Amino acid sequence: MTDTLHAAAIDILKINDRGSYTVPTKGLYPFQWNWDSCLTALGQRHFDADRALTEIETLFAHQWPCGMVPHIIFHELDDGYFPGPDVWDCRRPVPTSGITQPPVAGFALARLLESAPDLDTRARPLLARITAWHRWFHATRDPARTGLVALIHPWESGRDNSVDWDIPFERVPTEGIAPYTRRDTQHADPAHRPTKEQYDRYIWLVERFRGLEWQTDKLHDASPFQVVDPGFNAILIRSCLDLAALCDRMGAVELAQENRAMAEAGLAALGALWSEAHGQYLCLDRITGGLIDSPSSGGVLAAFAPIPAEHATRIAATIEGHGTRFRVASHAPGTEGFDAKRYWRGPVWLVVNYMIADGLERAGCADAAARITRSSLDLIRTSGFAEYYDPLTGEALGGTQFTWTAAMVLELLSMEG
Ligand code: GLC
Repeated sequence: MTDTLHAAAIDILKINDRGSYTVPTKGLYPFQWNWDSCLTALGQRHFDADRALTEIETLFAHQWPCGMVPHIIFHELDDGYFPGPDVWDCRRPVPTSGITQPPVAGFALARLLESAPDLDTRARPLLARITAWHRWFHATRDPARTGLVALIHPWESGRDNSVDWDIPFERVPTEGIAPYTRRDTQHADPAHRPTKEQYDRYIWLVERFRGLEWQTDKLHDASPFQVVDPGFNAILIRSCLDLAALCDRMGAVELAQENRAMAEAGLAALGALWSEAHGQYLCLDRITGGLIDSPSSGGVLAAFAPIPAEHATRIAATIEGHGTRFRVASHAPGTEGFDAKRYWRGPVWLVVNYMIADGLERAGCADAAARITRSSLDLIRTSGFAEYYDPLTGEALGGTQFTWTAAMVLELLSMEG
């Protein structure tokens, strides 16, 4: 059974491989996505480490001069996706979107090179490039130097329509946007996708940033949506730390110090997002200055960073308390906004499970980590390689033959082994 799963996962990664990058799944997502690619490389390393490094190199070949790494690279034209390159209008040699995604590249590169140290020399230029991205975050998304960076569009979180964004999103207008036709609802069940009102707000923000010609140092202050996501910041902190260790190993002392300083600033500030009542971290609305009362997986994913041990233990108990057949639900069941089937408002996503399990394991919560790993693999055995799953029934939802799900299966199988 394990061998069959392993082989099936590799097949999916190959089916979605476009040579130098991998699409998340054909049809629904026909381009290269930022954090998908980095996590995909972790799957590819189990059968082709060279190809895995190419995945990350291709992404960074499209880094902007300011340091930002865009969330989508439109390598080829495909009008099956909205919003396409003409809506973003970022004027890059190869069209890209103008916002970013969770910075998991530093972590992924370090993990890839652990199992493929012969790629060190080839990977070396990425140390400075990834550091430049981390520096860009701190410079443009934390102008007041709090230590934590803000998202200016929900899509940056990777948890596109989480309940976390509902309240701050009310500040984003819907008037005046150009008429458009969604394409996602032609590929997937509209009842499992974001609503029209949410979509109007996503597009309003894109138009606002485009009006400022994507000058990334101006967008934070110009956005009515500025949210500090604990999961996103944990990924940045972890990437800074793992990249620093890699820089040390390769003798890049200054880059190591710079990454470590950014991680320390983030870790020192993260504690302010802890909620004792919820037993997890919460998002911070930077415009109001208040925590957002929404127990989503972003606040659980914070365990990916080296948070205090007592917080990791509480988070493990919080997941247990969800009481779902499959874990980890992207929003706490039984709380307001939970929807077992709608995208990031309840369903289970394997990439998030993987990072939570990895963090809990490192924090000494080995049993909790093993339960997440086992539950994730059970889901695949029950329902195949879907985009996301109903935590109550295990039903497969969204796209099929999904790349990062397959990549995570290879990682989880090796963790279990
Ligand atoms: C959706 C997800 C996002 C992912 C993308 C491609 O937009 O919310 O996290 O990167 O699909 O898989």
